[in-house]
Amino acid sequence: MSKVTVVGAGNVGATVANVLAHKDLVNEVVLLDIQGDLARGKALDTWQQAPIDYYSTRVLGTEDYKDTANSDVVVITAGIPRKPGMSRDDLISTNAKIVTSVTKSIMEHSKSPIIIVVSNPLDVMTYAAYEASGLDSSKVFGMAGILDTGRYRAFLAEALNVSPKDIQAVLMGGHGDTMVPLPRYTTVAGMPVTDMIDEDSLNAIVERTKKGGGELVKLMGTSAWYAPGAAAAQMVEVILRNENRIFPCCVRLSGQYGIDDLFLGVPVKLGRNGIEEIIELNLNDDEMELLNASAGAVRSVKEVFDGMGLL
Ligand code: NAI
Ligand code: 2OP
Repeated sequence: MSKVTVVGAGNVGATVANVLAHKDLVNEVVLLDIQGDLARGKALDTWQQAPIDYYSTRVLGTEDYKDTANSDVVVITAGIPRKPGMSRDDLISTNAKIVTSVTKSIMEHSKSPIIIVVSNPLDVMTYAAYEASGLDSSKVFGMAGILDTGRYRAFLAEALNVSPKDIQAVLMGGHGDTMVPLPRYTTVAGMPVTDMIDEDSLNAIVERTKKGGGELVKLMGTSAWYAPGAAAAQMVEVILRNENRIFPCCVRLSGQYGIDDLFLGVPVKLGRNGIEEIIELNLNDDEMELLNASAGAVRSVKEVFDGMGLL
């Protein structure tokens, strides 16, 4: 049976552990936080839910990295979330140190885990974990695209009055306001979305998606956790079941889409080995321009990280 560790027992991390327990996929999920009692409390709460919701997965709360030994998959959610008025990029000075040190501690106890990064600013924190881990880039990637397409698909389902199950979509770029939803690659039960909704309404949904994280921060005073937690847990499930499903994930590009040495959201095939394949779509000039602008925004945050000298 596989072992999964979730680092950070806050809103997102505890949700990842709870959703994973409900999937009854692994014997044990280790939930680690510098606030050990918070991790222990949320783990105990999830265990007490097991007889009610019928699962056997035990969640262990801890602050000790020894308990994470030999993890197959590690989800990093440690770090501060944004407050109203902040961008994800404003979190870098705090979260870069946290993600780098968490990754190094993980690697002291697990030889070759798959690492899924959730902490923001996502694309650069994924790069930080990749560099700090020394792992192959197929094993270190970030969660954002499943969440961002989730928002896009939910808004479309609402506008079209159809089930969100029937909306399929691709979205690329960084996890920030420059992300690139792709209407040309969006379908409703296989039919092009562009045939089913007027252009103005579609454009409004694209814009709302780009600012989808901020909309929730404004409402709640902190960032979202149900959809982000479910999205990260879905990635773990797909890996452990070796499903080869296709999702947009934040991965290291080495020439794909003409972009080199940058972590950015693109569609990938996800399976037992992590990133099994990076999929290259035929983007038109407008889409390519938007993707390049998004890559530029991520690159400028990466430069801030590189300047911190943490590696
Ligand atoms: P939170 O504040 O509820 O939880 C963060 C937890 O990290 C806290 O319990 C804290 O004690 C812990 N922590 C801090 N430093 C640590 C360390 N060195 N080792 C272990 N644990 C440590 O925050 P929340 O809402 O869970 O968000 C976590 C991160 O995920 C934030 O950076 C947020 O911006 C990001 N996020 C990313 C999303 C995405 O799509 N990639 C979506 C939602 C949130
Ligand atoms: C979100 O998009 C804050 O990245 C987080 O909800």
